[in-house]
Amino acid sequence: MPPTATDNLAVLGAQWGDEGKGKIVDLLSPAFAVVARSQGGHNAGHTVIVDGDEFILHLIPSGILHPGVTCVIGNGVVVDPAALFAEIDQLQSRGIDTGGRLLVSSRAHVILPYHRDLEAASEDRLGAQRIGTTSRGIGPSYEHKAARCGVRIGDLADARPGGRLAAQIESNVTARNRAVTGPALDWRQVLEEAARVWERLQPMVADTSRYLNDALDARRPVLFEGAQGTMLDIDHGTYPYVTSSNATIGGVCTGLGVGPRVIDGVLGIVKAYTTRVGEGPFPTELDEPQAERLRAWGREYGASTGRPRRCGWFDAVGVRYAVRVNGMTALAMTKLDVLDNLDELRICTGYRCGGEMLTDPPATIGELASCEPVYETMPGWSGSGRTAGARDERDLPAAARAYLERLEELSGAPVAIISTGSDRGDTIVRRDSPAARWLGSCAPADERDR
Ligand code: GDP
Ligand code: IMO
Ligand code: MG
Repeated sequence: MPPTATDNLAVLGAQWGDEGKGKIVDLLSPAFAVVARSQGGHNAGHTVIVDGDEFILHLIPSGILHPGVTCVIGNGVVVDPAALFAEIDQLQSRGIDTGGRLLVSSRAHVILPYHRDLEAASEDRLGAQRIGTTSRGIGPSYEHKAARCGVRIGDLADARPGGRLAAQIESNVTARNRAVTGPALDWRQVLEEAARVWERLQPMVADTSRYLNDALDARRPVLFEGAQGTMLDIDHGTYPYVTSSNATIGGVCTGLGVGPRVIDGVLGIVKAYTTRVGEGPFPTELDEPQAERLRAWGREYGASTGRPRRCGWFDAVGVRYAVRVNGMTALAMTKLDVLDNLDELRICTGYRCGGEMLTDPPATIGELASCEPVYETMPGWSGSGRTAGARDERDLPAAARAYLERLEELSGAPVAIISTGSDRGDTIVRRDSPAARWLGSCAPADERDR
């Protein structure tokens, strides 16, 4: 029996998403009673690999593989019921039973077919300025939420003619038909479909804020799982090339209905380099032949869309910013092994912008696009060993340890977990870090026994 965590922990991406949140959340989950998602939707793709078997979670929290964990999809998430059912079916077919331990907030907004159509039209209209979204209808669903014309999970219960659901869907479909070229949607069909999902959804629907607060009052520890990352946050990210929700720490409170004081620790997940999917400025991006090497070694293809990820050097300006904006108390550094073949590594320590040296990301996209990264160079460890699969810090080459130490120094938060491969076990938990307590007996055997 793994020990129970005494703290509640938020796990957030500190870059542009895909930092390896899924792996780390899965690893930590056995110490928690509840794992809760607060924002995003099935634009997320969280990969968990267990003994070579790959699971990709989109909407369902990455704690679901552990039978004792209850998973919560909070009010801040946008839910496409078809995507949710497909994910449940997938898990079920692989022997993971979600019955009775997957809860969906009645206040979460629903993604309906017209959201995807609106998004496609908007991306088309933007042409070269398109965001490069995941085409899942995420943005338009959040737009409707803010415009107060959205449909929430709880609304699906009442599809009577003349009721709110019918009226809202009629109005939204009418607006969609005006905005989008091509065949019109029939609002009655959309309504029928929306009403049909209720039967299957209903047993999972709950007041999840109430559920979480009761769990917290009973001292059942909760892990708050973020989707995306700080640089994709709608307020703090590289706007407008961002997602439409708050991937930073505040999103946990608003997206789950919990107070800030219940969050005892904030674990930032960072890759040992940087990637980004979709459009938008990326100061440390590598040119293609070099980017392709990292992409191949790190298998950098989107877990949701399969798109190749853009690759670049570690950006300490961005990570330091993420540590500050979120109050990150520790970091988990993933994919160190991907750098095993490099003779030399670069770390961006500042941006040169219009004759000035910046140590914080500028607010506007124009400024960020004109920033030149300032690098420092460190020796790689290709000639002195490998980190791949290392489960003991003492097995890391000295140059890898020096690289980690420098990243820690520049980022302003201690590295508690080092990940050296995609499998659950390929992990080093620093014994003097709070993560050692959260992990307990889930840590690799050699870590536990020392
Ligand atoms: P998330 O969205 O933050 O959960 O990350 P993704 O799952 O989208 O992308 C991370 C990818 O890196 C997945 O394919 C993981 O299996 C893989 N991964 C995670 N940690 C490591 C690691 O330490 N080394 C390697 N080589 N792969 C890793
Ligand atoms: P996880 O949780 C990486 C990116 C898209 C696009 C922008 C807006 O797996 O880290 P959206 O469909 O959200 O409106 O697209 O955000 N994006 C992600 N990039 N990881 C993710 O999630 C992402 N979710 C959205 O590529 O650039
Ligand atoms: Mg991902």
